[in-house]
This record gives sequence, structure tokens and C-alpha cells, in this order.
Amino acid sequence: MLETLRSGRLSLGPAGPRFEELFAETVGARHCAAVSSGTAGLHLCMRLADVGPGDEVITSPYSFVASANCALYEGAMPVFADIDARTFNLDPAAVEAAITERTKAIVAVDIFGYPCELDPLLALCKRHGLKLVEDACQALGASYKGKPVGSHGHPAVFAFYPNKQMTTGEGGAVTTASQSEHELLVSLRNQGRLETSSWLMHGRFGYNYRLDDLSASLGTAQLEKLNRILAARADVARRYDDLLAGVDVEPPLADDPDHVRSWFVYVVKLPRGADRDAIAARLIEQGVATAPYLPSIHLQPYMRERFGFREGMLPVSEDCSARTLALPFHSRLERDDQEYVVDVLRAAVG
Ligand SMILES: Cc1ncc(COP(=O)(O)O)c(C=O)c1O
Repeated sequence: MLETLRSGRLSLGPAGPRFEELFAETVGARHCAAVSSGTAGLHLCMRLADVGPGDEVITSPYSFVASANCALYEGAMPVFADIDARTFNLDPAAVEAAITERTKAIVAVDIFGYPCELDPLLALCKRHGLKLVEDACQALGASYKGKPVGSHGHPAVFAFYPNKQMTTGEGGAVTTASQSEHELLVSLRNQGRLETSSWLMHGRFGYNYRLDDLSASLGTAQLEKLNRILAARADVARRYDDLLAGVDVEPPLADDPDHVRSWFVYVVKLPRGADRDAIAARLIEQGVATAPYLPSIHLQPYMRERFGFREGMLPVSEDCSARTLALPFHSRLERDDQEYVVDVLRAAVG
């Protein structure tokens, strides 16, 4: 950071490429383009997929809004397919049923850091000529079938907002195995400049989605300790798993040989019929802050208003949205505090 400050190169200096190289190496990607946010990365991927007005983009309703908004930025329609209640990720059968002749891309989210069903989704993309974009904003450090998220070849988007596994303040990155996609990303994030053109010559319509050098140097420092951060988060999650045995909530899905989660949040599912708001209120009375994580995107006020979406359209997502609760979670959470959280939760659901 200090080196960057003293260098006087606060943007488009050497810190950006240094961070990109280390990030690509960390996730095993051929190329990495750093961007100003995860949302910016998702938007650029819509341009990679040539998504435009009249097109449809299939995505998950159980996500942060940016994974659906990116289609709207390009005038396309987000089409929500329902999720698998176990993984909270897109159900490939529901995705297949949602494909029409207008479908251009699938934005598959690795929600809560649990990798989505890449192989079936990639097979669908191949069969129907669609582009797969992976929203890995919550999943840095996760892996699918033994390979890190971000290393599977298709574009994968990461985010570095401060609540993420690592941070650059604001920031994001897009990895891809394709040289031409990478070149397009680098141009689009830099106001459409071409590598060969001068500062005021713009070969295409672009954006200012650059990551500045201070943020990039912070990112490099964070990557150097990423393994420690990920291990600490996994320890905290394991302690919750143990402490919650016997409490009437469903803990997060365990890893299996094909899916290794990176811990972003620790979300439990309450029993059917439980009054989540009342439980959250009892928890906060005892000093335990939780979040009703995540609301279904199609039921967000602006989505209802614009498209007329209503309850009942995506029953699995809606049921999960009604019953999931994020517990306090960060890499330095101590055992005593976790014991307290679980004691209060046990009493509240009991
Ligand atoms: C699943 C998902 N997608 C996209 C984003 C957007 O990232 P950013 O906040 O960096 O724009 C987030 C951020 O929380 C996210 O969780």
C-alpha cells in the first residue's frame, strides 16, 4: 500500500497486473481481469455473452440482486429458475425447463460459497448454445470436482467487498481461460480503449470499471494470507456445526467429494412453521444480531413492480427465503461467543 502511495501511480500502475497475476495463480485461472466491483464484473460478462434487449438470462432467485440485475443493465430479461433446497443453488432440471429460443446465458451463483452444479449446467449450455457465467462472488476458495472455482474455463466473477473472504474495499475480478474474452474485459473496463489506442481513442463502448492501484495492492496483501483466512473461517464453521448438534435447525450442507465450500456466511434453516422474525427478535434482545439471509430476488419491491412477480412462482426459493437465518460469522469469532449464540438460538427455537 505505502509503496503504491509513494509511487504516485494510483491507477493503471503496476499494482493492478501484480494483483491479477497472483489472483489468477491462486484460483488456477489462465487470465484475471480486476474490476471495480463484483457487480461490474457481472455486467461485463453480459457483454461477453453478447446479451442485449429481447434476450433472456436464466439465473437464481436465491441470491444477491446483482446476479439478476446484470441482465437488466443490458436490457435483457432475468428468468428465474428454482433452486435445490439442499444446496440453495440453481437446480439444473429447473434451468433446463426455463430455456427458450431467447435464452442467451445462464448466471449460476455459488451461493454462500457452495459451488453450483457446473457440469450439468455446462452440458446444458453446450446443448443449447448458451454462455455460462459463474457468479463466484461469495466463493473464493471453493472447489468443484477437485478444481478451484474460477479455474473451470468459463468466466467466473469474484467480489471483494469487506464482508467477503478477502477484501480490496470495493473491488472484483473476472477469471477466464479465453484470451479473447480477457482482452475484451480489459478493454471494456477501461472505457473501451484498445491496447493499441491512445488515451482519448475508444475502439468500443465501455465503462470505467477499473480497480485502482491502492485497492489492488490491498488485494495482493490479502491474497498472501488468504489460506489463513479461509482456514480460520472453516474452523469457526466447524465449531458451529458441533455446537448446533441437537438444536432444532438445519445446519449448512456438508461438503462432499465434488463440492468443497468456502465459508462466506453461516446460514441455518429453521423448522417449517417456525416464526423466523420472532426468533430473530428474541436473539437480538439477547445481543445476537442475525440476518434473514436471503430474500428471493423476484419478490424484491422493484422486481414485483416492474415484472409483476408474485409469491408462489418459485416455491423452493421462497420457502428457503422464509426459513433461513444467517448467524454471526467472521474469521475471528471466538468459541465463547459461538457458544453464547447457540445457547440463545436453542432457547429461541425451543
Ligand atoms: C452473489 C453475489 N453476487 C454479486 C455480488 C456483487 O458484488 P459487489 O458488491 O462487489 O458489487 C455480491 C456481493 O455481495 C454477491 O454476494
